[in-house]
Amino acid sequence: MIFDTHAHYDDDKFDDDREKVLTGLKDHGVGTVVNVGADLKTSENSLYLAQKYPFIYAAIGVHPSDIACLDEDTFPWLKKHVHDPKVVAVGEIGLDYYWEKDDGVRRLQRAWFERQFSLAYEENMPVIIHSREAAQDTYDILKSLHAEDIPVVIHCFSYSEEMAERFLDMGCYLGIGGVVTFNNAKKLKEVAKNMPIDKLLLETDCPYLAPEPNRGKRNDSTHINYVVDEIAALRGMDREEVIDITEKNARRFYSIG
Ligand code: NI
Repeated sequence: MIFDTHAHYDDDKFDDDREKVLTGLKDHGVGTVVNVGADLKTSENSLYLAQKYPFIYAAIGVHPSDIACLDEDTFPWLKKHVHDPKVVAVGEIGLDYYWEKDDGVRRLQRAWFERQFSLAYEENMPVIIHSREAAQDTYDILKSLHAEDIPVVIHCFSYSEEMAERFLDMGCYLGIGGVVTFNNAKKLKEVAKNMPIDKLLLETDCPYLAPEPNRGKRNDSTHINYVVDEIAALRGMDREEVIDITEKNARRFYSIG
């Protein structure tokens, strides 16, 4: 069954029908979901969802745009909760230079990225990376912290084929979602077509980034079916084969048996 490796069901866009959406996923072939935190509140909400639904797992971490919530008083919360039984990864963490132009704040982003990555490294846990317009700095930090030793995914991969190769050479997985169905996503289609299939993780990033033909609408894990169709067409594979292999990849990545 489909494994959605990156979702945000705690988002308020699901407040009216969360229960209905989540309990309906299996009927659309979606078997497992990792709900990903972006700050301390949404990390806590991810934990709550993971405790409530057997097929949901949690990632906890602070997104580069939300690092203002981190300090010496709040960081211990992450250190403590990485040990919760349904927490399977640290994330999403990383760098976002698209939204942040200030050098001082970018420096802080790098510091908290390194600190959170090191927490995952010490605990031998997988890491979900958010990286936007910061390819080189992301690469350099991952290289210097020995990312090759633990499972790392570059979520919503948006860089060049050359960058894809460099991250793959370091052992990283690439997360691919709705964007690959967009007509103008030429680079990403090439990456999805040519990368080693055993490093490909399917993701929605829902409620964001709905694939064609639902672009611009609220996304949910059932729409991964369009992403599966696109990848199957690009690679000349059966859709069942794509679902099977990417589910195995996700289970290996998160160590979910
Ligand atoms: Ni996300």
